[in-house]
Amino acid sequence: MRIAMIGSGYVGLVSGACLSEFGHQVICVDKDESKIAALRQGVMPIFEPGLDEVVAANVKAGRLTFETELGKAVSSADAVFIGVGTPSRRGDGHADLSYVFAAAEEIALALTGYTVVVTKSTVPVGTSRKVEEIIRRIKPDAQFDMASNPEFLREGSAIGDFRRPDRVVVGCDSERAREVMREVYRPLFLNETPILFTSRESSELIKYAANAFLATKITFINEMADLCEKLGADVQDVSRGIGLDGRIGGKFLHAGPGFGGSCFPKDTLALVKTARDAGLPTQIVEAVVAVNDERKLRMAKKIEAAFGGVKGKTIAVLGLTFKPNTDDMRDAPSLVIVPKLQAAGAVIRAFDPEGAKEAAKHLNVQQCKDAYDAIQGADGVVILTEWNEFRALDLAKVKAALKTPLVIDLRNIYRPAMMAQAGFRYVSVGRAEADGR
Ligand code: UDX
Repeated sequence: MRIAMIGSGYVGLVSGACLSEFGHQVICVDKDESKIAALRQGVMPIFEPGLDEVVAANVKAGRLTFETELGKAVSSADAVFIGVGTPSRRGDGHADLSYVFAAAEEIALALTGYTVVVTKSTVPVGTSRKVEEIIRRIKPDAQFDMASNPEFLREGSAIGDFRRPDRVVVGCDSERAREVMREVYRPLFLNETPILFTSRESSELIKYAANAFLATKITFINEMADLCEKLGADVQDVSRGIGLDGRIGGKFLHAGPGFGGSCFPKDTLALVKTARDAGLPTQIVEAVVAVNDERKLRMAKKIEAAFGGVKGKTIAVLGLTFKPNTDDMRDAPSLVIVPKLQAAGAVIRAFDPEGAKEAAKHLNVQQCKDAYDAIQGADGVVILTEWNEFRALDLAKVKAALKTPLVIDLRNIYRPAMMAQAGFRYVSVGRAEADGR
């Protein structure tokens, strides 16, 4: 099967590379010439564990190539995936579909023979039909069907998620298109991965509903964490205690500084707008957006309170990315928390294992060469992202390097009793403060 992937950003590149691993002939297209030139040299535009190996292996096998010209890739393809960006539109929070529509126009001109055109980017309900209209307007005699096939990839584990998804969702109205999509995902089909065929509207809404539900789950446990602090309960226990109920499930119940990333903030906002436009505001999702925004400011206040004011204090910040195993800074809690601390007079010494370059574009902080370098001489440490290497710090070394033994852990990666034993004052999320000084 021949596949054209339009857009070689995060979604397009991971999906294109993994589809070539399934045995398909894939051409990844991007207008950015420097990106395509780099990919041809084996240089990845993003940090995603395992991606470079999948790309290298399939390029070598002759199944994966990179192009700046869309026409060539589309004209020979059985399926064309649209994987371009859909950022939040400035001002109103709606998903900006200009890249999707521009791709649709170009695809229309290049279509030859029967082709399935698939929206892979996260797009508002109804977009697949709009793309169909654009293509029909430009080429009325084009032989094609539309499908919606949302992705559920998590950054940092995207390759594993693509190879072993919980489910594949395909929205389309024609049996012929369904056959093509079954063939695209045949290796997963053989693996007994559930493949759910729905209407295009349902498929588009599934993506938003899934992300909004997960964002709600996180926000819920974050509220419970605050309550735990007030009531003397432990959020780790509460989370486990409710998560063991099969109806609730233990995943995405980890309290922290609020969700960030390229999907949850953008998609919850887009769903809010869609629902308002439909005259049926989603009160729950609106509350989630507001509570999560407020949480990041609340975390800055929590840090200030733990320090007893941060004016003139030097704070070591460990982790800047929105989560570990990525260099992505989009909507990272650090983007709100760090400037707030700086505005209150703190000096920030930061370290992030992969995010330093991205972070430098958004934050004006001193970047250190490792965690211990950041901690050296600081008045306290704040853990903002749960990178594995922060889970096993040499506590004696940390204590010796700090001016005062204060650790504020917004990801709960240490046990309070252990931190007290090591001689720290330890402040975490949704648990009682421990003081071993
Ligand atoms: C998410 C979805 O999981 C994925 O299915 C979708 O395709 C894209 O959005 P991603 O943004 O890569 O993936 O990261 P994810 O692991 O879901 O985490 C999102 C945010 O929630 C992060 O800021 C993370 O720190 C936070 N989070 C997650 C929590 O605070 N607690 C949790 O228990 C889980």
